[in-house]
Amino acid sequence: MNLVMIGTGYVGLTTGVGFASLGHNVACVDVNAEKIAQLDMGKVPFYEPGVQDALTMVQEQGKIVFTTDLKSVIGGADIIMLAVGTPSTRTGEANLEYLFSAAEQVGSLLDHEAVIVTKSTVPVGTNRLVLEKVRKGMSEAGRAELTSLINIVSLPEFLREGTAFEDFHNPDRVVIGADDEIAAQTVAKLHEGLDAPHVITKLESAELIKYAANALLATKISFINEIANLAERVGADVRDVAEGIGLDKRIGPHFLRAGVGYGGSCFPKDVSALAQLGGAKGYTFKLLSSVIEVNNRQREIFFKRILDELGGVKGRRIAVWGLAFKPDTDDIRESAGVDIAQRLHAHGADLAVYDPQAMNNTRRVLSDHVEFTTTAMDAARGAEALIVLTEWPEFKEVSFEMLRENMVGQHIFDGRNHFADMDLHKRGFCYQGVGLGTCAS
Ligand SMILES: NC(=O)c1ccc[n+]([C@@H]2O[C@H](COP(=O)([O-])OP(=O)(O)OC[C@H]3O[C@@H](n4cnc5c(N)ncnc54)[C@H](O)[C@@H]3O)[C@@H](O)[C@H]2O)c1
Repeated sequence: MNLVMIGTGYVGLTTGVGFASLGHNVACVDVNAEKIAQLDMGKVPFYEPGVQDALTMVQEQGKIVFTTDLKSVIGGADIIMLAVGTPSTRTGEANLEYLFSAAEQVGSLLDHEAVIVTKSTVPVGTNRLVLEKVRKGMSEAGRAELTSLINIVSLPEFLREGTAFEDFHNPDRVVIGADDEIAAQTVAKLHEGLDAPHVITKLESAELIKYAANALLATKISFINEIANLAERVGADVRDVAEGIGLDKRIGPHFLRAGVGYGGSCFPKDVSALAQLGGAKGYTFKLLSSVIEVNNRQREIFFKRILDELGGVKGRRIAVWGLAFKPDTDDIRESAGVDIAQRLHAHGADLAVYDPQAMNNTRRVLSDHVEFTTTAMDAARGAEALIVLTEWPEFKEVSFEMLRENMVGQHIFDGRNHFADMDLHKRGFCYQGVGLGTCAS
C-alpha cells in the first residue's frame, strides 16, 4: 500500500519506518525542514533504540522517502496518516492546531479516493472534525464531488518511547475506529504481518480507548506513590508491597514502581485532556483530578525532602543523574529530572547534570549556569548530594567506592528507587528512595 505519514516525531517516524519494514511504500512529510534533511541523509534526529538500523534498511530498499512537500507525494496515496503533535494548552486541553492545519493542507491537495487516519492522540469527537476539514478543503479546491470518497479512521498509538520500534512490531492490540467498514478493513490490511488482535469499533470508542488506557496507567502510578508515602510513615517497604499486590493476576505487576511520579510527552497531557473532556461534557472526573494532584505533590514531597535533609541548597554543589523522562530515550518533555534540576537551580544550588542521551535537549531548557558533564562521575565529583531521576541501567555500573571518594557529601536521593537493592548505606552513603524509609533507619 502507499502510505503518506504526516509528522516525523517519535510516533510518525517510528511507525512510518515500521510500516515500510512491513513492505509498504511510505512517504514521510514534516514541516521541520532540518529534520527532513537529516532523515533524507539517513539519520534519525532523536534517540530511539532500533529505529536507526531499521531506517537504514528501508531506505536501502527504497521503501521510504522524506519531504517537506506534501503535494509531491500525496498523489496515489491509499492512506494518509496524521501523526503530528497534540500538546497541552495552558488550560490542559489538547492543542489541535497542528492536526487541523495538516488536515486542511491535505484537503487542499487531495484529488483521489483515500483513507485519512488519525494516529495522534486526540479528544473524542476530533476525528469527525478532521474529516470535515479535509472535505471542506477539497470543496474549496473545486473537488466537492470527490469528498464522499474520503473516509476517516482513528488509529490510536500505544507505543512506549524507549521500546517504540519493538512495540510497533509486537503490539498488544490494534484499535481501529471507523464509521465506514471498508475504510476500517483497509487500515486493518495495513497491519498484515503483525500478530495482534484488532479491536474494530466506533470512532468515539477508539478515541476514548487511548485516553482511558493512559489514564489507568497513570492512576496505577499515583496509587503506588500514595502507598509509598504511607509506607514511609508505617515502616513498610513499598517494593515489597508492590510485589505482594502485583502478583495478584487481577492487578498485575506493571506500573507499580513508586517514585517521583510520571512525566513524558503522553501521561501528563493525556490525563489532563481526559479530565478536561469530562468537564466539557458536564462530567467531573473526580478520580483523575486526584491522580494529577498526587503526581504533582510527589515531586513537591521529593524536593522538600532534599531541602529539609540538606538544610537548603544555596551555593552547594548538587549532582543530578537522569534528565530524560525515562531510560532509553532523549525525550525530556515533562521530565522529573529537568523539573527537579530547575527547582534546585532556582534555590541557588551549584548544579552539575548528566544524562546518557538527553544532554542536547536539556541544554535548550536549562540555564547556562548549570554544568553539563560528559560522565556521571564528573557530575558527582565534589557534590554534597546526588539526585537520581532516571533509572538508566548504566548508573548501576559506576564504582560506588569511587563515587563515595569523589563526592564531598554522602546523600543520595533516588527518585526512582534505582539503587534500592544495592545496600548503599553499607557503602557509606545516606541513601533515600521513595517509600523505603529514611537513611537512618
Ligand atoms: N511520544 C509517544 O510516546 C506517543 C505515544 C503514543 C501516542 N503519541 C501521540 O502521537 C502524536 C505525536 O507525538 P510525538 O511524540 O511523535 O510528537 P513529536 O512532537 O515528536 O512530533 C510531531 C511532529 O509533527 C510535525 N508537524 C507538526 N505540524 C505538522 C504539519 N502541519 N505537517 C507536517 N508535520 C507537522 C512536527 O514538526 C514534529 O516533527 C501526539 O498526539 C502524541 O500524543 C505519542
